[in-house]
Amino acid sequence: MSGGWAAHVVLGQIRLSWPFPETERLTDMPNEPSGASALGTGSTGEAVSRRAFVAAAAGGAAVTMVHSSLAAAEETQEIRLGVIGCGGRGSGAINDSLSINEGVRLVATADLYAPKCASLWKAMREAHPNKVAASDTIAAGLDSYRRILDDPNVDLVLITTSPGFRPGYLQEAVEAGKHVFTEKPACVDPAGYRICLEAHDAAVARETAIVAGTQYRRQTNYVAAVEQIRQGVIGDVIGASSRYCTGGIWYRPRTEGMSDAEFQANNWYHFIWLSGDHIVEQAVHNIDTMNWVMDANPVSAFGSGGRFTRPEDSELWDSFSINYEYPGERIVTFMSRQIPGAAVDVGNVIYGTKGECHIGATNAGSRIFDRAGATVWEMEGSIADAYKQEHKDLVDSIRAGKPIVELRQMADSSLVAVMGRMAAYTGQKVTWKFATEESKLDLFPKDLTWESSLPKPQFAVPGKTKLV
Ligand SMILES: NC(=O)c1ccc[n+]([C@@H]2O[C@H](COP(=O)([O-])OP(=O)(O)OC[C@H]3O[C@@H](n4cnc5c(N)ncnc54)[C@H](O)[C@@H]3O)[C@@H](O)[C@H]2O)c1
Repeated sequence: MSGGWAAHVVLGQIRLSWPFPETERLTDMPNEPSGASALGTGSTGEAVSRRAFVAAAAGGAAVTMVHSSLAAAEETQEIRLGVIGCGGRGSGAINDSLSINEGVRLVATADLYAPKCASLWKAMREAHPNKVAASDTIAAGLDSYRRILDDPNVDLVLITTSPGFRPGYLQEAVEAGKHVFTEKPACVDPAGYRICLEAHDAAVARETAIVAGTQYRRQTNYVAAVEQIRQGVIGDVIGASSRYCTGGIWYRPRTEGMSDAEFQANNWYHFIWLSGDHIVEQAVHNIDTMNWVMDANPVSAFGSGGRFTRPEDSELWDSFSINYEYPGERIVTFMSRQIPGAAVDVGNVIYGTKGECHIGATNAGSRIFDRAGATVWEMEGSIADAYKQEHKDLVDSIRAGKPIVELRQMADSSLVAVMGRMAAYTGQKVTWKFATEESKLDLFPKDLTWESSLPKPQFAVPGKTKLV
């Protein structure tokens, strides 16, 4: 058992001010499993871009990495895991991997804040004492991800930060030769999408894995429902409707001394360059299901929405209503909402010429009805099992020498969500062609440092906000 993070970490400029109050924890799902949540602040002051730090990582290290008891790893063909982003999902994902896999070990962690890493180590030592390195290896700060990518003791990296950083980190992880598990969404803008496609192709070429955190692709009742649809049980698919309507979300207030960069990086959900808005950040799960069922990307998105209950400096909208047109003139009507106290309804209905298929979120199961309303097929499923299955498939594929690379699929779904947001924000129809080939939208701040001043929150106004 470690003596605590302080004994193992040398931080350049750490200021402790945790835990932060959180109004609500982020939940993707009404009953999503949660993880560790201790927060703190730390800084390195180095500039980052989507692809920065290859050189910076070598010098001026903010953290001294400690490795011990890892020498035998290669002989035993152990797969050694590093986590970048030790919040709720980082803790959940590493727990899933350590729970389902044998011959794996947590060896390194990175986060903006050292105490978040420390909480994760503590929780994993308690839950999986035999699958955790002897010493806590903690990197903290805006460049901490690079310490994990440069660490030769890490074979597989779990990227569970806020989404804005994801495309650059994915690309650098592949370049560093790491296998990857990445949370959703893959990107928050078309520029990030293109980076993801490059990372996907590079991983295929290098034969390194990238498994995506769109867990419904591995949930048994989803897989079986899509199979039923493919077999024609509901006839020809003529359209669908999908809802991702949930309650509120946490807000992490600014504390004294925080730069714009720190405030936004910590309160990431409320800034579009970091989260993509809730249609991208959360509802990508349903949009991914729609892409899967339709077996295509949509031709266009047209939609609306608004903002009425968010904190004053939050860029988030409260609701989106989007019509996606898929090939064959099939319309998916999609709605997402995130309003405290409003009814929660997350699920999908797929309409066919002979019947319809209902696929509920989390553990709500799948059902097929014929035109007379009689149930012709149904199946339950477990989201907790799906969360674990993605880590089993990942590790099994690495061991089998056939690494899964599925980033493109999640990048496509993420861009479909981005298209919906762009359509609603601008009031224009957004085509897939425009989003993939013409859009110049690139939200990541240039020359970002921990001390950066950033533009004041921007609020989209349909009809005025330009489509770029
Ligand atoms: N698949 C799912 O069902 C599911 C469920 C929950 C969350 N998620 C995804 O996981 C991601 C994280 O969500 P969360 O709930 O864990 O949020 P969180 O705020 O609890 O955790 C994010 C962590 O990343 C750290 N971080 C942010 N930027 C970083 C950077 N540049 N370098 C290092 N660390 C950084 C933060 O300090 C924080 O500890 C989101 O993309 C979210 O969509 C997916």
